[in-house]
Amino acid sequence: MKENHSIQELVNYAKAAFNKAYAPYSQFKVGAAAYTASGDLVQGCNVENASYGLTVCAERNCIAQAVVAGHTRFKHLVVYTEQEKLTPPCGACRQVIAEFFDADAKITAVNHLGKEKSWSVNSILPDAFTPKLLIEKN
Ligand code: THU
Repeated sequence: MKENHSIQELVNYAKAAFNKAYAPYSQFKVGAAAYTASGDLVQGCNVENASYGLTVCAERNCIAQAVVAGHTRFKHLVVYTEQEKLTPPCGACRQVIAEFFDADAKITAVNHLGKEKSWSVNSILPDAFTPKLLIEKN
């Protein structure tokens, strides 16, 4: 288990991912970074497409890249943008986050001005449909 990670380290990773964002259509670049349960850092950016609906958000790319690296549990996700108003995860990303984060795990939106706001996973997607509901018998 890797220790002594800071929120600043997570923000730096999210900002580095932001700088790689592929957003030629919206110009709305997003970077995400997360600590895995084992303390590793993972990151992702939004990747748009000429067929607009195929765009993948930074948060989901971050999680997908982590899964391929062997991580399926996460502690904290940061979303970084350079917008005056902070960028909370979209609805689709909230559902994907609920799959891999505990209900009390933390999501933090930050921007280039140092503004930040945090939520628990449960507060941004209450009564989520999670893997437990598929597995548990009623
Ligand atoms: N986007 C994200 O990457 N994450 C969010 O939480 C909100 C939206 C991206 C998708 C698209 O590339 C651009 O931002 C504008 O919607």
